[in-house]
Amino acid sequence: MDARDAGQDLERVLLTEDQVHTRLREMAAQIDAHYAGSDVLLVGVLKGAVMVMADLARALTVPVTMDWMAVSSYGSGTKSSGVVRILKDLDTDLTGKNVLIVEDIIDSGLTLSWLSANLGSRGPASVKIATLLRKPTAAKVDVAVEWVGFDIGEEFVVGYGLDYAERYRNLRDIGVLAQHVYA
Ligand code: XMP
Ligand code: MG
Repeated sequence: MDARDAGQDLERVLLTEDQVHTRLREMAAQIDAHYAGSDVLLVGVLKGAVMVMADLARALTVPVTMDWMAVSSYGSGTKSSGVVRILKDLDTDLTGKNVLIVEDIIDSGLTLSWLSANLGSRGPASVKIATLLRKPTAAKVDVAVEWVGFDIGEEFVVGYGLDYAERYRNLRDIGVLAQHVYA
């Protein structure tokens, strides 16, 4: 679906599909340069990172494999607490691998900080993070994110994998959700 199919549910389009694709190609060039000569295991965080993974992976030229994790973080309301439970673990042994965590959005950063420490304890050669979006609140947490697509504002965004109540993941663009949808 695109923004006009979402109708009144979007306050506005924040990033078009073209802007996202252009930025992901730029990130892919930097990631290619960083990993030149080695293999990379891309670890996507379900479900939000599915679209980012699909487009970023196809823009890369270094040899990649892909695996997926699903985690749930508990907190009060919509904020995560940093208490994370693994719902689906990797199928891959990380020993000696270059691991690149692929994320849709970093908000508090608590989930990623936990995830990166967890994967780091499994004997990989390296663990790095690429995220399409980052919110200002992420600055509060001490987690190194090597590649960031866009720094955005505080607003709740949907589309390109990001959902509200599991909807809008298939929206091609990234939009700010209108308040009446969750009010
Ligand atoms: P942290 O631990 O960084 O978790 O707070 C990030 C997770 O929070 C969700 N999130 C959003 N999801 N639109 C969304 O669809 C947003 O604007 C948004 N902000 C945070 C998301 O699940 C992400 O993985
Ligand atoms: Mg997510």
